Amino acid sequence: MTRKIWVFDTTLRDGEQVPGAKLNLREKLGIARQLKRLKVDIIEAGFPSSSAGDFNSVKEVAKKVGNTDDIMITALARAVKSDIDAVYNSIKYAKRPLIHMVLGTSNVHVEKKFGKSKDQILDIGVEAVKYAKTLLPDVQYSTEDASRSDFEYLWSTIEAVVKAGATMINVPDTVGYADPEEFGHLIYRINERLRNLNDSVILSVHCHNDLGMATANTLAAVKNGANKVECTINGIGERAGNASLEEVVMAIKTRPDAYNAHTDIVTREIMNTSRMVSEFMGLDVQVNKAITGENAFAHSSGIHQDGLLKSRDTYEIIDPKDIGLEDMELVLTARSGRHAVRAAFERLGINQFEDAEFEEVFESFLELADVKKEVYSHDLYVIVENYYKKRHKEGEKANSYSDYFYELLDLQVIDNTKFPSASVELKKGDQFMKGNAVGSGPIDALYSAIIDVCDLDIKLIQYDIRSVSRGKEALGKVQIQVEYEGEKFIAKAFDTNILRSSAYAYINAINSIIAESIIPKAENI
Ligand code: KIV
Ligand code: ZN
Repeated sequence: MTRKIWVFDTTLRDGEQVPGAKLNLREKLGIARQLKRLKVDIIEAGFPSSSAGDFNSVKEVAKKVGNTDDIMITALARAVKSDIDAVYNSIKYAKRPLIHMVLGTSNVHVEKKFGKSKDQILDIGVEAVKYAKTLLPDVQYSTEDASRSDFEYLWSTIEAVVKAGATMINVPDTVGYADPEEFGHLIYRINERLRNLNDSVILSVHCHNDLGMATANTLAAVKNGANKVECTINGIGERAGNASLEEVVMAIKTRPDAYNAHTDIVTREIMNTSRMVSEFMGLDVQVNKAITGENAFAHSSGIHQDGLLKSRDTYEIIDPKDIGLEDMELVLTARSGRHAVRAAFERLGINQFEDAEFEEVFESFLELADVKKEVYSHDLYVIVENYYKKRHKEGEKANSYSDYFYELLDLQVIDNTKFPSASVELKKGDQFMKGNAVGSGPIDALYSAIIDVCDLDIKLIQYDIRSVSRGKEALGKVQIQVEYEGEKFIAKAFDTNILRSSAYAYINAINSIIAESIIPKAENI
């Protein structure tokens, strides 16, 4: 069995320090429950001495999420009695509470922040640990700014607090200054001495991302003996953020040869957790972010798509299902090759093309991809239907798949404080339909007006909007996730008019539902 690496999640404490990312109690509890599903070992739920609200939410997390043996709940204290009391009084409801305290060890912290001598600071730390140990058996001590500290002073602090009873030592790269080789060496030296001093103490690291090296530094520490990592979901946190949980965990899982270790994380919950944190905190995940970015598993180059279809491992080192994504997303674009397009048709059950027929279909695909940029499965039905119509001149009316799909003709949205309202005009085959609705806001009214026409019981789970180009004519990209009969569908759309892109995205989602779960498969086209 490989060495277990403990995962300490500080999304609700360091992550919540991001300006504007404040969570309410319901959201904090939601994230804490999801972290438990993800099976992190420790949740740091907040900084209770900072406000009554924070105290209360830590207490609720301790009571409602920390009520089982499989998870520890902690919260942060400075090395002062009132902070330690606030942590104890908020986490004591958990089955396995842990007091976490922090005190600086670098010259700049000791001299400039505290204006004290090194000996005085060391004594304060030792007294704080001794006090915390009168309250609880498990105490973590963080040597803030460790990576910029004088090694012998850092070590004498660690030695003294371990002798005072600290059960976990956390070595932070507080300002993201370390480099992987140097940080690995620091952890190696500490680990060597710690193993001689007290083998049962957990050695932990907490890395910030100011130079983009938080994940690399954390992994270097794992290689050099750290057996606990402190991370946040999506890498959020103070300034440039913390080491990202999903990156550290998936690196350990994907490269057992390099790390010879494992975590207990249920990696299939990674995407759900990432989306929840992003949604609740209002912080978008960068599109090309490793593991959880929108493009992390999207292959758009024709050469890559062709390779993937021959064998996944040509261009994919992680199975998307492992992190909770349904499957790799082959975004069909004008750059997609024949192999990818044929495979997309086959996934829809359309597999009867002779080579010459397929060439014609592929030509139509390229024409559409030029106009639409991204081609969905329902577009493929339209392509194939047009192809057969062309081929048989008039075509078979009964088999016309575009009769099932909706198209937006026009929309009007009126926003006011009392009754935001919307009306839409849609087309399906040769039917023209109008829908109207009021809603709690303009988008809610717009989506209700579309449902007024389509009459499907759809739940909107996620709605994201952002600009994907610059200037006055910038394209607004809307991405949504909806649920229909327990199945989730993602759709997106671009337009310079954000109400139109919102409507197109919703109609794309509806058409995907129709394509995938309502109309019969296309063998009999
Ligand atoms: O960055 C840091 O040093 C911290 C400590 C509280 C661990 O967040
Ligand atoms: Zn931090």
